[in-house]
Amino acid sequence: MTEAAQRDTEIAVDREARIRRALEHLKNDTTDQFDAPTYFMPDEFTDPELAERERELVFGRVPSIVAHSSEIANTYDFKAIRMPRNNIIISRQRDGSVKALVNLCRHRGALLENEECGKRRLFSCPYHRWSYDIDGTLRTITRETTVGELDKSELGMVELPCEERHGFIWVIDRAGVEIDVAKWLGPEMDAILSTYDLAGLNCIRMEAFDEPINWKIMQDAFLDGYHIQYAHPNTAAKHIHTNVMAFEDFGNHCRFVAPRKTIDRWLEEDPGENSLVDYVTETHFLGPNVTLLKQPDHFQLLTFRPHPASPTHGVMEMRLMVRSAEEMGLEQERWERLWEKNWQILLAVLRQEDFPVLRDSQLGMSSQSAGRMVLGRNEVANQLFRRMLAELLADDAS
Ligand code: FES
Ligand SMILES: [Fe+2]
Repeated sequence: MTEAAQRDTEIAVDREARIRRALEHLKNDTTDQFDAPTYFMPDEFTDPELAERERELVFGRVPSIVAHSSEIANTYDFKAIRMPRNNIIISRQRDGSVKALVNLCRHRGALLENEECGKRRLFSCPYHRWSYDIDGTLRTITRETTVGELDKSELGMVELPCEERHGFIWVIDRAGVEIDVAKWLGPEMDAILSTYDLAGLNCIRMEAFDEPINWKIMQDAFLDGYHIQYAHPNTAAKHIHTNVMAFEDFGNHCRFVAPRKTIDRWLEEDPGENSLVDYVTETHFLGPNVTLLKQPDHFQLLTFRPHPASPTHGVMEMRLMVRSAEEMGLEQERWERLWEKNWQILLAVLRQEDFPVLRDSQLGMSSQSAGRMVLGRNEVANQLFRRMLAELLADDAS
């Protein structure tokens, strides 16, 4: 057996074992658990000082995903993104690499780009028409002789640390620091992502939701397998079991398997050597702010970011990433119908079921005498998310 084949076999064996662990939990009405419940206060979701620390010590320090590579597939493609500390542009360079640049003209600060995405050979300022190359170099100063002598090399767009890895574009929201995505992911999660061929997928749908909700309230909802039956009785709960997780802790990241309802046929019958991969959803939390869902035939990416100023607002982005019609062996029209239907279901659950509850949670947190609240031992991924943030926020060293 080649080394790669050996590795694939090990991964498959490990996956089947984890799924069987989830199946045992389902049979016994149990789930993986954290060591103890954790108590917390409502001001975590309303305090402007904490929000500032999160922008600085979390987003200004560690890499987070801002797009799938296929969203800016070709040279001159760009996207404009509002990060917690900076408005940025990511753009595909002539050599195929990606740069992240602060979306701001170095003359008097106008926003260089106000389209959300598109193609540009130059970023051209609407105010006095200075223009910049896609790599951020200042090219033209209009009426230059009257402006006076300037060192153009000092007045390029400011670059942020940016890396493309596992089919995603990662950015640290602070100029002048080193980025090392593999190091942040750690060996386990980096290896897991490398087995998914995420770079070979196409991001066919993406939508951003600007909500009056702290980003952590939103992130928590998408690490939570406990609310499904109660908040989504007629939608998600028809497909996924509630409060059953086989969980792995990778420090700043984690992964958990949750059984789909189709697995019920194996509750009585012994699955033996049968593969159970089509009977589960595998969820990955990629710290600090991403949920990556691996479904039997596609991936969903959910990202959560704080508002640049308000602790009571945040942005969630949802992406659907799939294989091409050809690779799936489907006629184009059927393929399009399939994913459109899938996407509309996701949107409906989000808008009609999750966001209303989460907006109300944010309102709940504004009560001044709210008292302390609690995360249960069963809420393992949420516990890990809190632990990760607490560690980043405690460490002021950088
Ligand atoms: S502010 Fe951009 S050219 Fe003046
Ligand atoms: Fe939900």
